[in-house]
Amino acid sequence: MKRRDFIKTGTISLVASGSILTQCDSPIKKVKNNPIVLSTWDHGISANNSAMDILNNNGTALDAVESGVRVTEADPSSQSVGLGGRPDQDGHVTLDACIMDSDGNAGSVAFLRDIKHPISVARKVMKLTDHVMLVGAGAKRFALENGFQEENLLTDKSKEEWLQWKRDNSVKDSWGPNDEHDTISTLARDNEGNLSGACTTSGLAYKLHGRVGDSPIIGAGLYVDNEIGAVGATGKGEEVIKTCGSFLVVELMRQGYSAMDACEEAVNRILRKQSGKSDFQIGYIALRKDGQVGFSAIHDGFQYALYKKNENKLYDVKGIG
Ligand code: GLY
Repeated sequence: MKRRDFIKTGTISLVASGSILTQCDSPIKKVKNNPIVLSTWDHGISANNSAMDILNNNGTALDAVESGVRVTEADPSSQSVGLGGRPDQDGHVTLDACIMDSDGNAGSVAFLRDIKHPISVARKVMKLTDHVMLVGAGAKRFALENGFQEENLLTDKSKEEWLQWKRDNSVKDSWGPNDEHDTISTLARDNEGNLSGACTTSGLAYKLHGRVGDSPIIGAGLYVDNEIGAVGATGKGEEVIKTCGSFLVVELMRQGYSAMDACEEAVNRILRKQSGKSDFQIGYIALRKDGQVGFSAIHDGFQYALYKKNENKLYDVKGIG
C-alpha cells in the first residue's frame, strides 16, 4: 500500500467510526440509583464517607464531592491539602482547587492564602460569577466578600518541617519530602446517574512563591464530562498540565478506551517524554459514567479509595513506570 493510500484508508475508517473525537461508537450507559465515590490516596476514605452520606440522602454529586474534599481540607494531619498543608519556600501555605459539575460548569481558585476551604471558594466562583478562575489576592478578596473567614493555615508541625528544610536546603535539594501524599481528587456519581468532581491541594512542598500546579486547572487536575466520565489527577502537576492529563483520559474514554486503559495511556504519555523513567509520581483515577473505574500511576505507592455498594475500600496501585 502506498503512503497516500494508507492515509486515505485511515481517513475513511476515522469517518466511518463516526467522528472519533466527538462521540463514542456506542454511547456509555447512564446508571441510576447506584451511587459511587472514588478518591485519591488514603485520605480518600474519610472524604468518601462524607460524600456517600450526601448521596445516600439523595444529594447531588456536586454536593457530595465538595463535602468529601472539605474533610481533607480541614484535617491538619493531611500535609498536602488545606489546613496544615506544607508551605512554599517562604513559609506561606498557598492553595489550589477546582470543581466541576454535570452540566460542564467549572470554578477554580489558585495561589489562595489563609482560607481553609478553597474548594468552597471555587464552587462560589462557579455559582456567583461568569468567570472560571480567580487567583491570589483577588481570590482571597472574593472569598472574604463571600463570608469565608481568614485563618492561619500553617500548623506548628508544618512550620517546624519547613524550618528544618530551610536549614538543610542545598543546591541538590528537591522541592520537598517525597512522601508521595498529595492532592485529593474526589469523583462521584449520584442517584440520578450524574457526575461531578473536586480537586484540592496545597501543592508541592516548598515550591517557589507563586507556583500553581495542575489541581486548579480544568482539564489538567480534573475534568468531568457527564456523557463520558470524570477524571482526577495527583502527583507532579507540571507534567499533568503539559499533557492536559484529565481531559486526555476523558477523551480517550470517549474514543472507546476502557477507564483503565485510558488512565494507563495518560501515564504512558508522560513516561514516553521521560524515556520511560521518572523520579516523580503521577496518578490518575477515572470514573466512567456507567460505573467502570480506572486508575494508573508511574510508581508503586499510589492508592485510591472506592466507595460502592455499601463498601468503602482502599486499594494499592502497581506502578507502570
Ligand atoms: N498535583 C498537585 C500539584 O502538583 O500541585
